[in-house]
Amino acid sequence: MSTRQLRLGTMLHGASGNMSAWRHPAAQADASISFDYARKIARKAEQGKLDFLFVADGLYINEKSIPHFLNRFEPLTLLSALAGVTEHLGLVGTVSTSYSEPFTVARQFASLDHLSGGRAGWNVVTSPLEGSAKNFSRQQHPEHALRYRIADEYLQVVKGLWDSWEPDAFVRDKQSGQFFDPAKLHTLNHHGDFFQVQGPLNISRTPQGRPIIFQAGASEDGKKLAARHADAIFTHQPTREEAQAFYRDVKQQLVANGRQPEDLHIFQGVSVIVGDDAEDVERQYQTTAALVSINDALNYLGRFFDHHDFSRYPLDQPFPDLGDIGQNSFRSTTDEIKRKAREHGHTLRQAALEAATPRPLFHGTPEQVADGLQLWFETAATDGFIINGGTPDTFERFVDRVVPILQARGLSRRDYPGKTLRDSFDLKPPVNQFTSQ
Ligand SMILES: Cc1cc2nc3c(=O)[nH]c(=O)nc-3n(C[C@H](O)[C@H](O)[C@H](O)COP(=O)(O)O)c2cc1C
Repeated sequence: MSTRQLRLGTMLHGASGNMSAWRHPAAQADASISFDYARKIARKAEQGKLDFLFVADGLYINEKSIPHFLNRFEPLTLLSALAGVTEHLGLVGTVSTSYSEPFTVARQFASLDHLSGGRAGWNVVTSPLEGSAKNFSRQQHPEHALRYRIADEYLQVVKGLWDSWEPDAFVRDKQSGQFFDPAKLHTLNHHGDFFQVQGPLNISRTPQGRPIIFQAGASEDGKKLAARHADAIFTHQPTREEAQAFYRDVKQQLVANGRQPEDLHIFQGVSVIVGDDAEDVERQYQTTAALVSINDALNYLGRFFDHHDFSRYPLDQPFPDLGDIGQNSFRSTTDEIKRKAREHGHTLRQAALEAATPRPLFHGTPEQVADGLQLWFETAATDGFIINGGTPDTFERFVDRVVPILQARGLSRRDYPGKTLRDSFDLKPPVNQFTSQ
């Protein structure tokens, strides 16, 4: 029996993260804009006692974006609706610090935390796509380092606003007429490089003290931001060795910031395919992969490089030298794609297909998938996983067939330990910066 708890979330990916999987016979083609679908996945996740459901987001599309990105719900609106039809599941949504205001976002996540009884999580991203600037009346998309400086100050402001009220500030005493205790109200008065925010926030301290903060972004600046502010990281490393190196690095940075290694959980985003045997797994993989044309694959690859047009290069020549292209976009991802293509001597066609139709890292029978997850978990490669179905019905199969094995091995819990996402994560209550309590 393992004493450390393997943590699990799933990504709500609607019509799939794949360019063409909406055409799969088992796929619901309008899933990205179907509340019924979202509710079905959320309830399935709850049935498997998963920690949370994760909703990614973006702020710019064009005709080359994957179908799921073209027509999907805004995360906080969707999660608020899901709060009403679930009881225990953590509800984690993506909002960018490059294109929003801290006061608004602090309110929104505080509201979700109240509405859900303490299940809100915010995935903090800095927005990789330059086109986002065009949707927010900006001349320019801030460059990578600047985005992270903004994010750091942004998080200081939001956390300060969440500390505006002490837990028992609202006395609501009808006899005396006292609605709140002014001694328990704290005004932030923030004056910084990017934000001027007085406060206080117009909503009380939340059931979790403050919502759980995720950070997604794996560059050096991304890790630094997480080590200072986050409760969890969403990342993706292609091999166990790289995941172990990332894990060691982040945990060391936590300690250097005066925090404990267990104060932040690292989640590897992984695709899985669960089959009856090797033949069944291969058939499932091929059915999905065969739907992706080479043009789809080039467009999918191009998005990571800020929608760079890869159709201008010869397909069967070595992967092109791209110089700095990608550095201001999904930097950690584009660095990885370039490195891999160089190391394996891939052509553009191979690199594009590899990016668009990767073979899921964890595939096989339910036991084999469970073995793989257990190995990563027990060799300090990760604290948990965000499960992304490799085919449309994978997630159900994962919950029905893999989760019971993880439970039987003592790796996953059989029930929720409490009511909040913080309880599920076994994280300490946050300290209020105004009272140090
Ligand atoms: C695993 C992972 C998930 C991400 N999810 C999102 C997302 O949902 N929305 C978004 O705008 N950016 C997302 N990003 C992008 C980052 O927020 C960031 O803007 C970009 O990756 C550059 O940061 P990095 O070089 O530190 O990775 C994600 C990045 C990673 C690595």
